[in-house]
Order: sequence, then structure tokens, then C-alpha cells
Amino acid sequence: MKTYKQNTSAESKEFLEELVVSSSETNAKLLKLLPSTENEKLFAAINYVIFSGGKRFRAFLTLQSAKLFDVPREQALQAAAAVELIHAYSLVHDDLPSMDNDDMRRGKPTVHIKWNEATAILVGDCLQAYAYEVLCSKKTHPDPKIRINLIKSLTMATGFHGMVLGQAKDLDAEKNSRRSSLEDILELQKLKTGALFKWSVEAASILGGASSKELCNYANAIGLAFQIKDDLLDYEGVEEETGKRVGKDNLACKATLVSLLGVDEAKKRTSQLCEEACEALNCFGPKSYMLKAAARFTIERGF
Ligand code: IPE
Ligand code: IPE
Ligand code: MG
Ligand code: MG
Ligand code: MG
Repeated sequence: MKTYKQNTSAESKEFLEELVVSSSETNAKLLKLLPSTENEKLFAAINYVIFSGGKRFRAFLTLQSAKLFDVPREQALQAAAAVELIHAYSLVHDDLPSMDNDDMRRGKPTVHIKWNEATAILVGDCLQAYAYEVLCSKKTHPDPKIRINLIKSLTMATGFHGMVLGQAKDLDAEKNSRRSSLEDILELQKLKTGALFKWSVEAASILGGASSKELCNYANAIGLAFQIKDDLLDYEGVEEETGKRVGKDNLACKATLVSLLGVDEAKKRTSQLCEEACEALNCFGPKSYMLKAAARFTIERGF
């Protein structure tokens, strides 16, 4: 394995500028999509969650992958909005007292703290359902077969075979750090985080009428690297930067790669995964520049 080459500051600057552009476009799309509801509390809480910040990293992956297949920007933005809605729902539920019991997210009080638990459950339910409603729109793609394909692949990525299964395994891994093997942890991280990363790029290829094993390999590698980095940030990050409580995994005795292998080995893994991800994109040539920069951001970020 080659040694991981450090990100150049020029590349990282360009990446962050592009992230700002794509996140403002995604926010503008979400603002347009946000339906009004008769229930003021629900509306306020949904608005709070959707516009509470967040890196919009999954949307970035969709928008950049869409460029590889010449997908029209409006279509790509519909899918980018859908993935961010699902991601937002997963965070609201992840923070619930019966899950990770977190009181801070994106630097602000979590929904169950600001409102109450029932509101947080309903907000999550609503965001999830709305993601599918967005995909059902003809604005996503005029061909209903493509829309069904997007919807089906998103259900696979989120539900029984994807993120929710990963979250269930993740809860089992609490107070269980001695019993979870490396394979168990990698599998649960691939599901709870990786599945949505994979869909973020898969959506672009579905919209472009293409399919790319290489792009999927890229997403699998950065999905895993992203979660290992998240665990590293929980271990050694600072709340002012991450916008969420740190040191929680250790308190919950959660089995992670950091608890199992230690910080240095976990960092080595993220570097290897980043390299794997970048190599997978070589077939796309210079067009994949930003996605490669995103892989490096994944493991170097402090938030
Ligand atoms: C946090 O995801 C949850 C994980 C899967 C690790 P992000 O770090 O992308 O959270 P936001 O959207 O930027 O807040
Ligand atoms: C969250 O993992 C994964 C999902 C929300 C699916 P974590 O529980 O580690 O994420 P944070 O640290 O709360 O953002
Ligand atoms: Mg969790
Ligand atoms: Mg959590
Ligand atoms: Mg975490």
C-alpha cells in the first residue's frame, strides 16, 4: 500500500468552495420543496432541522457524481435533496433518548430537547416520507421507471437491508466492545453510514442511465472512512468544531474501530480507504478531481 499523500491546501480550498456552492444550491432546493403544514409545531421543527446547517456532504456526492454522467442539475438536485432529507431524519432519530441520547446537533439543541420526544419522532417520520415524495416528482425524472428505480434503491439503502439494520447492530454494539469483532464493526458501519453514501452516488448513475462499479467502490470506501473519522472525532475532536458532544462512544462503551484497534490504527485505516477510493476513480480521469478531493476531506476534516 502506497503512503497516503497529504491534501494540498489548494485542493482543499477548492473543495471547500465547491462544497459551499453545492450546499447553497441544495438548501435553495430544499426551501422550494418544503411543504407547508397546518401544524405549526411540526412545521417549525422540520424547518429547524432542515436549515440547521450540516455539511450537505451526501448532496455534494450526488451532485458531483451527476456531473460524470451529464445529469441535468435540476434532476441531480432533486436526488440531492432526497438524500439530505433521509440523512436529517436519521440524525433526529439517532439523537433520541432511546438511541444515542444526544442534546446537541449541528451546534444547536436536538429536536427532542427543543420540543419533545414525540415531536422528534414525528419530524423524523415526516422527513423520511417526504424524501420519497420528492423522488416521485416528475422533476426528478420524466421516466417513471427511473423514478421507481431511485425509490427502490433508496428503500434498500435505508431500511431493512441498510441504514436501519446498521443502527440496530450499532445499538447492539454498545456495552459490547469486548465481544464485537472487527468484521462486526465494519459490517455495521457499512450499513449505518455506508449504505446512504452508496445511494448518493448510485442515484446519479441511475439518473444518467449508467452504472459504475468503480463509483460504488469509491462510495463504499469513503462511507466507511467517513464513519471511522466520525468515531475519531468523537474520541479526539472538539465540540466547537463538530457541533455535537464528544467522548460519547467511550461513555456508552460502544465498539468502534477506535476502541478495538486504537487511534493510530484507525487513522491508518482511513488513509488506506481514502487511497482505495481515489484509485477506484482513476477510470474517470480528470472529471473525478472533486470526488477525490472529497475523499481526502472525509478523513482530514475536523467537523
Ligand atoms: C453525521 O453525519 C452522522 C454520521 C453518519 C457519521 P455528517 O457528519 O455528515 O453530519 P452533518 O450533516 O454534517 O451534520
Ligand atoms: C450515526 O452514527 C449514523 C446514523 C445516523 C445513521 P453516530 O451516532 O456515530 O453519528 P453522530 O456521531 O451521532 O453524528
Ligand atoms: Mg448512533
Ligand atoms: Mg449519534
Ligand atoms: Mg458519532
